[in-house]
Amino acid sequence: MSERVLLLHPGAMGTSLGAALRENAHVVRWVTEGRTEATAGRARDAGLAGAATLEEAVGAVDHVLSVCPPHAAVAVAEAVVAAGFSGAYVDANAVSPDTARRIGAIVGDGFVDGGIVGPPAWRPGVTRLYLSGPGAREVAAWFAGTRVDARPVAGSASALKMCYAAFTKGSSALILAIRALAEREGVTAALLEEWGISQLGLPERSARTAGATSAKAWRFEGEMHEIAATFGAAGLPDGFHRAAAEVYRRMGPLKDVEDVDIERVIARLLGREGD
Ligand SMILES: NC(=O)c1ccc[n+]([C@@H]2O[C@H](COP(=O)([O-])OP(=O)(O)OC[C@H]3O[C@@H](n4cnc5c(N)ncnc54)[C@H](OP(=O)(O)O)[C@@H]3O)[C@@H](O)[C@H]2O)c1
Repeated sequence: MSERVLLLHPGAMGTSLGAALRENAHVVRWVTEGRTEATAGRARDAGLAGAATLEEAVGAVDHVLSVCPPHAAVAVAEAVVAAGFSGAYVDANAVSPDTARRIGAIVGDGFVDGGIVGPPAWRPGVTRLYLSGPGAREVAAWFAGTRVDARPVAGSASALKMCYAAFTKGSSALILAIRALAEREGVTAALLEEWGISQLGLPERSARTAGATSAKAWRFEGEMHEIAATFGAAGLPDGFHRAAAEVYRRMGPLKDVEDVDIERVIARLLGREGD
């Protein structure tokens, strides 16, 4: 059966999910209002159908799939409801279980919680869309046979995403902060030499991490706050990821900068480079 899905919004990840839905003959719409040319270009390339406004779009779909920066997830849900939508709403963003519940309360009975692990789904076997709650199996079926490995899970899909990213993005922030500390203390060469002896691969990993995170740090900040809140709500220390959020906040201005290396990231973390 062909579903009519509104994708908010076609970012790097969202577009790949939209393309997968189209492969299964579903109709995927997006809203042009307020978005940049980069988003419009991705949507065009993937053959998504544009609508000028949210109000126009919600009248032409049965479902909404939210894939946006985590800090915008609640506002997107509120806007969709304010535009008159009351169908199935999938939030696939990196938000805490509490934020997911808040979104569920906003959008009502049609809520399905989701969490994405892996890079944008342009090849098979790399991207998992975890789904939980009533409706999870139905949403997973939309993606059957595509490059998106959609998996219903017991418990909260958002909690699973928080646990996963707590390590991947949390450890990336830690490694970058350590490189900045070593620089500030004048022990970079000695640290890299010691890592080369006892922590094989870490010198290269720290350099690679700078390039891999700099363009996305602006949205990782919000994700780290969501993870910290998840730890806090569980009665666990939340400081690791509050610090990670601050690391990514300092890197935020690197969003549109090309070929960022570790030296540039260190300069930002140490406040040696202005905005
Ligand atoms: N990329 C990945 O590898 C990856 C992996 C796992 C999970 N995810 C999840 O996927 C979600 C989005 O990632 P992405 O890679 O698609 O991000 P992205 O490429 O940065 O795209 C974000 C999209 O959201 C729009 N947007 C920006 N600011 C917004 C705001 N304040 N309110 C509403 N929409 C806004 C952007 O539109 P404009 O730029 O046109 O304003 C763009 O279309 C996140 O929740 C993330 O955790 C991504």
